[in-house]
Amino acid sequence: MSEAVNRTLLRNANVVLPNEIRVGSVLIENGIILDVDAGATVQADRVTDCTGLHLMPGVIDDQVHFRDPGLTHKEDLDSASRACAAGGVTAFLEMPNTKPPAITMAGIEAKERIAADKSRVNYGFYIGATPDNAAELARATNVPGIKIFIGSSTGNLLVDEQAALERIFAETTLPICAHCEDETTVRQNAERLAGTNDITDHSRIRDEEAAMIATKRATELARRHQHRFHVLHVSTAAELEFLANPSPYLTAEICLHHIFFNIDDYPRLGSRIQMNPSIKTKADNDGLWNALLAGTIQVIATDHAPHTLEEKSQPYPQSPSGLPAVENSLALMLNRAVAGECTLPQIASWMSDAPARIWGILGKGRIEQGYDADMVLVDLEKQKTILDEEQITKSRWSPWHGESLSGWPVSTLVSGHEVWSADKGFDDQFRGSKLQFDHQRGGFWSTPDGIGTAD
Ligand code: DOR
Repeated sequence: MSEAVNRTLLRNANVVLPNEIRVGSVLIENGIILDVDAGATVQADRVTDCTGLHLMPGVIDDQVHFRDPGLTHKEDLDSASRACAAGGVTAFLEMPNTKPPAITMAGIEAKERIAADKSRVNYGFYIGATPDNAAELARATNVPGIKIFIGSSTGNLLVDEQAALERIFAETTLPICAHCEDETTVRQNAERLAGTNDITDHSRIRDEEAAMIATKRATELARRHQHRFHVLHVSTAAELEFLANPSPYLTAEICLHHIFFNIDDYPRLGSRIQMNPSIKTKADNDGLWNALLAGTIQVIATDHAPHTLEEKSQPYPQSPSGLPAVENSLALMLNRAVAGECTLPQIASWMSDAPARIWGILGKGRIEQGYDADMVLVDLEKQKTILDEEQITKSRWSPWHGESLSGWPVSTLVSGHEVWSADKGFDDQFRGSKLQFDHQRGGFWSTPDGIGTAD
């Protein structure tokens, strides 16, 4: 809907709060949650009956690759943000390996201008590290953080020399996150397996050892420099060893494909599940899931990384690494909740609250009085099958093609504004906003108000 609305009442929803689900009516005023337990008869300009539906905080996906600028034949900020809205993702943090890579504040500002023009949901852009841009990283402000490719992936960003890593950890203050696969190990494995066209070798080239060495190295740097650090897409149970001792400096993330797929799926899915870090074993799937339940890992993200099916159908290793996921991530998790494997408050913590706190995005990630009304209504009884041809991502495919899930988003609100609904489709007028990052008050180990510390 496009008319200006001051007050919206979401009546009789099952409201997913941090530690419970409570039936109630949520009142929104000018895009802010005014009351999470308003009476069902409160006056409002717009009233939506949510009986039978669950109201969750919108997903904040802290690791996506949206290809704009430079690789817009794969995705752009219009197609990507529509996929987000339909998937219940109300904010994304995008990685710097676009073309050109975002390694200066001018590069970030250029992306923000594209997003202001095209994005249906809220956005933030990481600044990318290079071996010699520590001074630029130190000057950067109001971005989620610094991204280091300690191992190379799509694009040419790579920092793997110890001196350069030490400088970045010592001379910058923004939170750092990293792609942890050891470049030397990956190159040695690739040389040993040179000439292979066997997709299963991807998990031998980017093996457990590569992930272990890089995660060990990065977490050691973070602890020694006492620098806020987030391990992106942990792919092996073995890496958990380096995350086991809680530290105010360390948090970690898993991506859905690392808990949903393993090497036994290569014969069925081939390069559709070719990812960096590679997918690993069934035991890793289980170990990572248990780490999430135990709190050793705090965040679920997608690493949405679209390539066209044509690009993917080249023989390995010409086939690029990456898969699209933003429009299905919440549904995949809701399906797990429906199956009794986790709860909705846990999903809200992993996909909304924890990323908000880790990246200092104040006022987001929870349904709570005074928070921004970025929310998603979900129908746990809705059943739908993921189909390539129905995907909104420009790449038009999903590794979950053919999977039937119970539990889907039906309406997504950004600042109280319905940007997408299953019935009405998209509001083409609305644009999301640049997220504001406050790293002084944020931090996962602080309280939601941003004022506590780890202990
Ligand atoms: O498989 C991957 N593809 N992993 C990454 O970290 C980058 C991504 C991409 O941008 O294609």
